[in-house]
Amino acid sequence: SVVLLLNGPNLGALGYREPEIYGTDTLADIEKAVAEEVAVRGWEVVSIQRDGEGDLVGAIHQHRDSTVGAIVNPGALMIAGWSLRDALASYSPPWIEVHLSNVWARESFRHESVIAPLASGVVIGLGAFGYRLAAQALLHLCPET
Ligand code: DQA
Repeated sequence: SVVLLLNGPNLGALGYREPEIYGTDTLADIEKAVAEEVAVRGWEVVSIQRDGEGDLVGAIHQHRDSTVGAIVNPGALMIAGWSLRDALASYSPPWIEVHLSNVWARESFRHESVIAPLASGVVIGLGAFGYRLAAQALLHLCPET
């Protein structure tokens, strides 16, 4: 089984992007961490990071039938990523929204997520560790086969 790890705009820059807010782990570190978590059930990870919303939409449709669940950090598309939202509405496996930073403690424009109402759950403010928690949540939500 395969888990889709989907990261939106600017998340390829993790490690040097505002490390005081997002930490020093790189996307490669996060990919490794998620892979480690899901390996306990023999699952694999396909990791896709794109800065453009259309590419994220395409990735969701492309992997719709081949993945058991997804972990999605939409970055700033949380605020108005309506086509990302609509793509996720067509994705039926469980998926978890992750934000590294505690968006509730930040600017008010980060206080709304247009995708959150569709998520199985949301992990916010726990840094890169949040991706591990999201991976564990998917294991919890997906029945063992
Ligand atoms: C983020 C929070 C968003 O508000 C921001 O635009 C990001 C990263 C996070 O992981 O904390 O790009 O999604």
